[in-house]
Amino acid sequence: MHTLPLYKNPSLSIDRRVEDLLSRMTLEEKIAQLYQIWARPDNIDEVKAFIRRYGVGSRILAGSNLAGSGQEKALEIEEINEYQRIAVEESRLGIPILFGRDVIHGYRTIFPIPLGMAATFDPELVEQAYTIAAREASSAGVNWSFAPMLDIARDPRWGRIAEGSGEDPYLASQMARAAVLGFQGKDLSDPERILACAKHYIGYGGAEGGRDYNTAEITDVTLRNIYLPPFKAAVEAGVGSVMSAFHDINGEPASGSHYLLTELLKGELKFTGFVISDWASVSELVHHRVVEDERGAARLAFTAGVDMEMVTQTYVNHLKDLVESGEVSLERIDDAVQRILTVKFRLGLFEHPYADATKASQILFSPGHQQVARQIARESMVLLKNQGNLLPLKKTGVKIAVMGPLVNQRAALLGSWTLDGLLHETQTVAEAMQQAAPDAVRLASSDALQDEMLAEAMKADVITFFAGESDGRSGENHNVASIDLPAGQEELIEAIARLGKPLVVVVLAGRPLNLSRVARCADAILYAWHPGSLGAAAIADLLFGEDVPSGKLPASFPRTTGQIPMHYNFNSTGRSFNAVGETSPLEYAYVDRYLDVPGSPLYPFGFGLSYTTFSLSDLSIDRPEIHPDEVICVSVQVTNTGSRPGAEVIQCYVQDCVASITRPVRELKGFTRVYLQPGESQIVTFQLGAEELSFYGADRRRRLEPGMFKVWVGTDSTASLGTTFRVIKS
Ligand code: BGC
Repeated sequence: MHTLPLYKNPSLSIDRRVEDLLSRMTLEEKIAQLYQIWARPDNIDEVKAFIRRYGVGSRILAGSNLAGSGQEKALEIEEINEYQRIAVEESRLGIPILFGRDVIHGYRTIFPIPLGMAATFDPELVEQAYTIAAREASSAGVNWSFAPMLDIARDPRWGRIAEGSGEDPYLASQMARAAVLGFQGKDLSDPERILACAKHYIGYGGAEGGRDYNTAEITDVTLRNIYLPPFKAAVEAGVGSVMSAFHDINGEPASGSHYLLTELLKGELKFTGFVISDWASVSELVHHRVVEDERGAARLAFTAGVDMEMVTQTYVNHLKDLVESGEVSLERIDDAVQRILTVKFRLGLFEHPYADATKASQILFSPGHQQVARQIARESMVLLKNQGNLLPLKKTGVKIAVMGPLVNQRAALLGSWTLDGLLHETQTVAEAMQQAAPDAVRLASSDALQDEMLAEAMKADVITFFAGESDGRSGENHNVASIDLPAGQEELIEAIARLGKPLVVVVLAGRPLNLSRVARCADAILYAWHPGSLGAAAIADLLFGEDVPSGKLPASFPRTTGQIPMHYNFNSTGRSFNAVGETSPLEYAYVDRYLDVPGSPLYPFGFGLSYTTFSLSDLSIDRPEIHPDEVICVSVQVTNTGSRPGAEVIQCYVQDCVASITRPVRELKGFTRVYLQPGESQIVTFQLGAEELSFYGADRRRRLEPGMFKVWVGTDSTASLGTTFRVIKS
């Protein structure tokens, strides 16, 4: 009787199935699992022949032979299924393929850029967005997304700040968890869930000067306390893959660091999934000049802990020889293969390898998905200024000029890394504004000369000006040396402001920009990021008061490029911030260190206004002291003191007053969104325990040091309502 091999028996445990499969594989078949292949129009037959012969770990940019060159391409589900069929039916062991693709902030329904999603301070909604991204991507045969990007960024010149959650480790950790749970769910074998990938491990956002791919020098203490937390959160949420970064950190390329990949990630953090390199980051070890050739690159990356190689072929070409020469152990090969196979079993790929071609058309860009995209876009936008309550605008009885370089753009709504979003499904700002208030809105034609724009503005009662960046001004290797608005925009805004009409500036951007000049002349500023497919509708919703802004800045906004790096959680210095408490022991202040600009940012981390107002009172702690294993509750009463219902993000910041190493003056350790009717109050409580109060010390260990702590609760990082408590020795 023909019996099924054990690994094909779904009733057995995954460990048992992996063990059985491993025992049947040749070395070549194992090495093929460590390879992510790139099929291009010129090598399709070669790729198919390779898969038929050995199988393959993964195929990159699945669904397209054009490597992201077109946004309007047809879905290629059949093509994905064809590759899968070759692997499953024509290769000896029938191991299914992982199809990897950059599904960064949505698949077909595009959500705000991740930096915008972080501005919602709403992890539940962000999880919903990634759940939708997974549902759409999986329907098109993609079972692995190269997201979330978890790189902390303190330099807005760096274009990839758009792809992450900004400057704060705590906020980024909450977002990391939300993204991983959204992609992977609780059960990866659910056909609507896909594998997530935490990237780019680690310190990639610390590139000198904001120049992408550049060297980062980050002390171990900063690496662990600032850059590591989101990766730790992703691992704790069960992320199945991690991508190693391009850059070199502290003299070691990240894709060749045994300490970072094997000791820290797989050892200390107990990451059981697999590590994939970034695009060619293994072969680029040669360019880093830490190895002589590709054979050396394969040896270094693989022994450091990179399990799968993206695109380049150093593993495929050299690992066999490296095993035979004894430079790479068979145990390490088996370890890497086992990690990859385990994920494939967890995904249920052996049971359900194919995508259902009929499903995609029903769910892509469905009305339900659009609704979530519109909601999250509304929550992501940050109201930075609203002089005289200019906003919200009336829809009738006024003439509203709609103008500026971004008014008729579609791609700028979507932002970077939107391989599968469709431009024709994305409304422009002009269209959305006109739809929202047809009687009031007057459009300046898209090719209007600037003098014509001014003439048009002159006829209006209110001017809305849409400024900012194209989608291509941020993202990978799209860095800027100055964070001022693109050339000419400030002058134009100032010229319009001189007309003396009420002026609203809406900014679309992939990074914090220097708004100093705009803030001096605009009455209202709404920061909309690149808000996604439904972004224009969401802007109109907010401008006309269908909803009330509630977004908060996930990164500080400098007053000028020269202030960078600028982040709220700077370390105490010898001559800093009221360390000895001359005025109030709870005061928080940036020190003026430049002769030509104040020390503070233009807008601090966590800042964002509303159309209503909130007051905080009655801060209390449930006890004055705790033991290290206990939790303290910090409560505050929040009241909507304005005349509209609205949401506010209440934020809790902590300072460890005296520690064995210098520590940040304050750190975000909790936040809650509350939605209140006018006059309504709510008590908000934060719990602080070992997780929130401990840090990595100079000995690389996590420690909670007894002593005094300060805590503040407020609506941005300058919160001044505070108190103190003590952690006492057990
Ligand atoms: C980027 C990654 C991306 C990969 C695959 C690289 O250039 O750094 O973030 O996932 O390409 O597209």
